[in-house]
Amino acid sequence: MNKTTCLNTGLLVLFSTLLVISGVNAEIIDDDTPVPPVGAMGGPDRVLDANELEQWIRGRKVFDRDWTQAEGLGTPDLNADSCRSCHQKPIIGGAGGLDVNVMRFGLDNDGNGPFQDLPGGQVASKLRRPDTPGREESNPQADVFEQRQTPNTLGLGLIETISDSEILSNEDPNDLNGDGCRGVARMIDVGGFLEVGKLGWKSQIPTLYDFLRDALGGETGITVPVDGRGFGMITDADPVADPEILPEDFADMLFFALHLAPPPRGGNQDPQVLVGESLFNSVGCAICHIPTLQGSDGPVPLYSDLLLHDIYPDDFRGTADLGTPAGVGYYKTPPLWGVRVTAPYLHDGRATTLEDAILLHQDEAIQITDAYQALGAEDQAALLLFLSDL
Ligand code: HEC
Ligand code: HEC
Repeated sequence: MNKTTCLNTGLLVLFSTLLVISGVNAEIIDDDTPVPPVGAMGGPDRVLDANELEQWIRGRKVFDRDWTQAEGLGTPDLNADSCRSCHQKPIIGGAGGLDVNVMRFGLDNDGNGPFQDLPGGQVASKLRRPDTPGREESNPQADVFEQRQTPNTLGLGLIETISDSEILSNEDPNDLNGDGCRGVARMIDVGGFLEVGKLGWKSQIPTLYDFLRDALGGETGITVPVDGRGFGMITDADPVADPEILPEDFADMLFFALHLAPPPRGGNQDPQVLVGESLFNSVGCAICHIPTLQGSDGPVPLYSDLLLHDIYPDDFRGTADLGTPAGVGYYKTPPLWGVRVTAPYLHDGRATTLEDAILLHQDEAIQITDAYQALGAEDQAALLLFLSDL
């Protein structure tokens, strides 16, 4: 194959993949797209005044926007052409299926460790442009690959109201209380100040503002203005002038994301749901999946401590964020609000059902998993019924 044919085939693959990714349940939001009621899935978190509602709708359009190459999409890396391509289950802003997982890689010497980064970092772009220099030799040595699922972004504005000290008050890295769980926060240096990482599977990012910037660069290849906090891509190799997003578009998307209601409870009135809720607490799920953390505007019913835990057996293979507590096997306790609509589960989607997810909890959670397995069939069913109402 000569170079031109190779490039053309590559571009064909690129464009057909883009079509596939943006084609899944594609949802084009315009001014007439109904806004779900306040507090509903995909609706605002509170009553918005007329100006706020307009800004929220504009922000939803930025989240939905199919960026074009003329506007800065890609180069050298992109995963999709819009945020909504991945965050769309069951509604824009939601989670993503296995088909839109992203991948990280590194070297762990066939599982013998230690984990090492390879030159160029861990991130493998889904749709790196075929004409990118160096694409061919990006990762010949890699021997460990980690899929990452697209989490829900509903309710992240409320998570933002939880103070660092509230999260730190639940840390117990040396298991002084003897429950087997060793929750630890990930502190991130932002311009000389330490902030708790609350977002991302490995708690790698402190705030929603930072995550939107990071995602614009990492997912769609859109550059953002310099701000000194260290997240987001400032320049790239394409000919479009940087920053590629207008400040007002960014502000609108941030407003939308901050005011996207948390997933509401399912509302199942079966009395077994309450039985399941009390079992969730008594077997110890609530040690890590703390039902509510205090936020500045009131309690936040997220079912997480926002701390890192290792729930995997010793032979688990995955990536590590070197120099941080997010080593191999460590993930942030994911919030459980909305789990009824975000299957499959765990960072890479390895658990198809809620029960599969529970049974994969080992290491720090082994006593709790054992306690779940010791329950009678009816109690297990009640606990699962409670989870499937979240
Ligand atoms: C290719 C799929 C994909 C696209 C496109 C995508 N995301 Fe994500 N998003 C993910 C994955 C995967 C994660 C988890 C990443 C991790 O922690 O490793 C994530 C995490 C997030 C989070 C943090 C959620 C949490 O609870 O920790 C936010 C916020 C977010 N994305 C916003 C966006 C925005 C804004 C865009 C568009 C600029 C976008 N995403 C585009 C896949 C995607
Ligand atoms: C030691 C802390 C800890 C305990 C105890 C614990 N979990 Fe988890 N849980 C986690 C962590 C960490 C993850 C994420 C692991 C990953 O992504 O690979 C998780 C993931 C989950 C998920 C998947 C959520 C998603 O969105 O993918 C469910 C469901 C879940 N836990 C339910 C439970 C239940 C039910 C119990 C009690 C039987 C329990 N957990 C006990 C820490 C804990």
